[in-house]
Amino acid sequence: MRKKLPWVLGLATLTLVLAACSAPNATQSTLKPVGEVAKQQKNLFDMVFWIAVGVFIIVEGGILLILFRYRQRKGRERMPKQTHGNTRLEVGWTILPALVLAVVMVPTVSMIWELARAPSKDALNITVKGYQWWWGFEYPDLVTGFGDQKAVQIADEMVVPTGREIYLSLSAEGGGAQDVNGDPDFQVIHSFWVPQLFGKQDVMPGRTNHILFSIDTPGTYTGQCAEFCGLQHGRMKLRVVALEPDAWTDWVEHQTLSPQTPTEALAEKGEQIFLNPLSDDRGSCTACHSVGDVGGIAGPNLSHFADPTHGCFAGCNWDTFLADGSPNEEALAAWLRDPGAVKQGAKMPNYELSEDEIDALVAYLYSLT
Ligand code: CUA
Repeated sequence: MRKKLPWVLGLATLTLVLAACSAPNATQSTLKPVGEVAKQQKNLFDMVFWIAVGVFIIVEGGILLILFRYRQRKGRERMPKQTHGNTRLEVGWTILPALVLAVVMVPTVSMIWELARAPSKDALNITVKGYQWWWGFEYPDLVTGFGDQKAVQIADEMVVPTGREIYLSLSAEGGGAQDVNGDPDFQVIHSFWVPQLFGKQDVMPGRTNHILFSIDTPGTYTGQCAEFCGLQHGRMKLRVVALEPDAWTDWVEHQTLSPQTPTEALAEKGEQIFLNPLSDDRGSCTACHSVGDVGGIAGPNLSHFADPTHGCFAGCNWDTFLADGSPNEEALAAWLRDPGAVKQGAKMPNYELSEDEIDALVAYLYSLT
């Protein structure tokens, strides 16, 4: 009984660990592909996996067979016949693995070419920008109707249509500000990954990488940065929202409109705080953030902060809306009060905002639908 205990404990642990993989909230699985590219990648994985299973069974089975057959037994202490230099056998076990590798290589190499192909003419272009530590998305072909802000810009959630090729251009933007030489600061390597949609692709400073993919089914797909990029790498998350083509067109139309002008008194007060320098030289929101044609580009664009598709913020660190769809005002207030306390190392400084200022800014930002 004693001897069995470690085995029982070991098996129980293994069962629990494996069960964790099938948890209902485990949404980031490459084994549940949605869309053509993800399915092709999964098929390739399946093929290589089953070949590997075959090799495993043959090799391990052979070892077990020999262990059993030639084990030491009473009355058979003599060494079995030893074989040296069997040419046929040696040539065989050299050629066979080479053949297996060749079989794996053909679809793998053709898949690499397939993934690197040029996008079709009607592909949707999106520039993905990796900042420390959030993702920005720019739609170069979707022009806004306001100011000189040319393209639709959003953060944290990338909104795309189903059934259309999507061509991503990935660029590393550092921390959003510039260093003393005028170069972007904190230029680090990120990796863009939404497991159900496509494999990982590095986001490199000074280089543009691409991802081509499409989505069959409307829904929200989660992803995250897959390359260690600093303190909050683990909370550099994102969501991809896939809408039916009609809903997508409506979304685009809404995004290209000028942001809402607040009507409520508290939100109006918030707008003034947002647009003007803060008192006592504390800085200004528009140094980094844009709403409409006003503001900077170092932080997330907030023109449509409260659009229902913008479900999370600060690298999807917190949800913008509660489960019942109401604004998550508490989370935004906590963020404004002290970003570093919510997300250690966050590039947004603590502006020592008063509770009145925070209330007004929360009302304003949630009026930007
Ligand atoms: Cu960005 Cu890890």
